[in-house]
Amino acid sequence: MIFVTGGAGFIGANFVLDWLAQTNEPVVNIDNLTYAGNLENLASLNADQRHVFVRGDIGDSGLLASLLASHQPRAVLNFAAESHVDRSIHGPEDFIQTNIVGTFRLLEEVRSYWTRLDGEAKQGFRFLHVSTDEVYGSLGKQDPAFTETHRYEPNSPYSASKAASDHLVRAYHHTYGLPVLTTNCSNNYGPYHFPEKLIPLMIVNALAGKPLPVYGDGQQIRDWLYVKDHCSAIRRVLEAGKDGEVYNVGGWNEKPNIEIVNIVCALLDELQPRADGKNYREQISYVKDRPGHDRRYAIDASKLERELGWKPAETFETGIRKTVQWYLANPQWVTRVQSGAYREWTSKHYEHETIQGSAARAAA
Ligand code: NAD
Ligand code: TYD
Repeated sequence: MIFVTGGAGFIGANFVLDWLAQTNEPVVNIDNLTYAGNLENLASLNADQRHVFVRGDIGDSGLLASLLASHQPRAVLNFAAESHVDRSIHGPEDFIQTNIVGTFRLLEEVRSYWTRLDGEAKQGFRFLHVSTDEVYGSLGKQDPAFTETHRYEPNSPYSASKAASDHLVRAYHHTYGLPVLTTNCSNNYGPYHFPEKLIPLMIVNALAGKPLPVYGDGQQIRDWLYVKDHCSAIRRVLEAGKDGEVYNVGGWNEKPNIEIVNIVCALLDELQPRADGKNYREQISYVKDRPGHDRRYAIDASKLERELGWKPAETFETGIRKTVQWYLANPQWVTRVQSGAYREWTSKHYEHETIQGSAARAAA
């Protein structure tokens, strides 16, 4: 079996769903259900005995030690993190706590567990750390895309905390020999994306008739990857990645923010036109820029493609259409995450509980 941390969040939940759709290997999912963790993302695993949900913090050493000892995973995949740049600007403390201290505690417990393994179990064990391209900082317009050897130049409290966690993972490999893999991925989009990030926010605001807030001049560039392609890359790295190596993950899909917003608006015009017949684009509103806003990210994924034969399945055109369609088909999910109803529910019912064969039964 494998451990996944942060598996009730956007990427972690997509990963768990895809994993159990493709293999029969059970998953222990450890997530402390912050505002970004949502058991409803896992509703389709209701009654699936291969999924064990544990509400817990990656910084809780005692819990981790006992879970590792009782389940004996062959791999630990660390998705758990505070992940929103704007929140990190308003309140960096949680980012330091989870992304740095939490990763450190997790590494300590995993090291202690791994040290006591022997033979094939020890040889085959992997700790896979899920990280971001934002650790590399910001690129100029003409600069080549980030490779794995690009120097670390994080600019936000979020990216600085992720950079620190990457360094800890690296150090545990070099100092203690812990078999680690690190992936640094570009911006993801797709189902279950919390509507505080650019793409889901634009979709839900557009449908609600609210302004579409574009920071600054809207010319900042991000490199977009459909979340299920990120999940397939992680599976491939876990399967065949070389112990101690770093792999950049991306789909060669750079676009300025304003273009993304225009594409989302055009898709909504087609799929769910405004009642007044006007274009959603009319809702675009330029707002004050984010402090320290990185201008451009771009991932060079050629190492992953060349060495492990990975390729994304979706183009931006196919992925963004699926994403908009998913939000149109799941208005209740949006209403509930926005109202916070699911959080009140889970805090009442899941405090210190382990839920086997599924999480979401009660959250539904
Ligand atoms: P998310 O914010 O949607 O989900 C994070 C999950 O981690 C939530 O379920 C939350 O409850 C859980 N969590 C937070 N603190 C925890 C703690 N202390 N203990 C246990 N669980 C905790 O984030 P995401 O977008 O799914 O990102 C997942 C990972 O991928 C993060 O490490 C992030 O840095 C990385 N990443 C994200 C993107 C992106 O575009 N979203 C791109 C590249 C890398
Ligand atoms: P975001 O989805 O927060 O991801 P990140 O900051 O990790 O790249 O933002 C993506 C881009 O969109 C980023 O350049 C900031 C911009 N943005 C807006 O213009 N308006 C918004 O309301 C948000 C949330 C983001």
